[in-house]
Amino acid sequence: MTDQATGAPRQVSPAPPPDDLRPGGPGGRYSRSGGRRLDALARGFGILHQRRVWTRRAVSWDHADNPALDRVVERLVEEAGPRPDMVAVDLGCGSGQLSIPLARQVARVLAVDISPAMVDLLRANVERAGLTNIEGRVSPIEAIDLAPSSVDLVVSNYALHHLRDPDKAAAVRTAATWLRPGGRLVIGDMMFGRGTSARDRAIIASKTSALLAKGPGGWWRVAKNAVRFLGRLQERPLPVGRWVEMFLEAGLAPVTAVPVVAEAAIVAGTRPCETNDC
Ligand SMILES: C[S@@+](CC[C@H](N)C(=O)[O-])C[C@H]1O[C@@H](n2cnc3c(N)ncnc32)[C@H](O)[C@@H]1O
Repeated sequence: MTDQATGAPRQVSPAPPPDDLRPGGPGGRYSRSGGRRLDALARGFGILHQRRVWTRRAVSWDHADNPALDRVVERLVEEAGPRPDMVAVDLGCGSGQLSIPLARQVARVLAVDISPAMVDLLRANVERAGLTNIEGRVSPIEAIDLAPSSVDLVVSNYALHHLRDPDKAAAVRTAATWLRPGGRLVIGDMMFGRGTSARDRAIIASKTSALLAKGPGGWWRVAKNAVRFLGRLQERPLPVGRWVEMFLEAGLAPVTAVPVVAEAAIVAGTRPCETNDC
């Protein structure tokens, strides 16, 4: 084939081969892999963004501003059913709001957070509390790699709504594999959708009016939160029902959902036992 203007041979791109035949196999150069690369890029940006945001907010993140969060932690620990011989993992541990009370009741806690500043604070708080059974680790939740069937509890409080939706589902699926038979995954978080249910609308209305009542600072936060929430940029809560589905899809059963306060709910599921293994 020649170029009509110059008569020179025209470069024709070959039709992309089927996915499995691409150079490098699935995920190779052409392809649906373009979508995969974009996805990996979006995840990478998300992770860097969260690290920056939480490194800035580490010192000011405090349940003292919002005592209802302590009620969520208390209930979450109760739902986890901790025992002194258990090994637990806390995803998005912050400065230890959940890891520390949990560590008083289990053998060991691996506390993971994306922000080095948060993990530094966690270590200081652990020392102040006189505990020696918490290991702080700086890592995105999306990159944590633990041996299958190696822990009894995976917990998380107010962290997973920051993950993109496919990454939430992947985190639930992966965490389920870390659990020993009989182990529990327990997630507390803001859980509501974008206004399709009466509960969603009541939550959105009450959060908005509480902020509006604070004056110009509050109005600014309403505007910021609206952009984040509607654009699913940083605040990406899902309704309770979707969390329950993700737990069931990950093979956990039974799965329970408990509303705690305002927008906070806890979803808990157990890795089923096979004959005589727990
Ligand atoms: C709202 S704070 C909650 C902290 C603590 N769990 C609590 O109960 O107060 C959210 C935490 O999740 C962490 N985080 C957000 N995205 C993360 C990710 N992708 N991987 C690991 N940690 C993440 C933040 O650094 C922050 O410490």
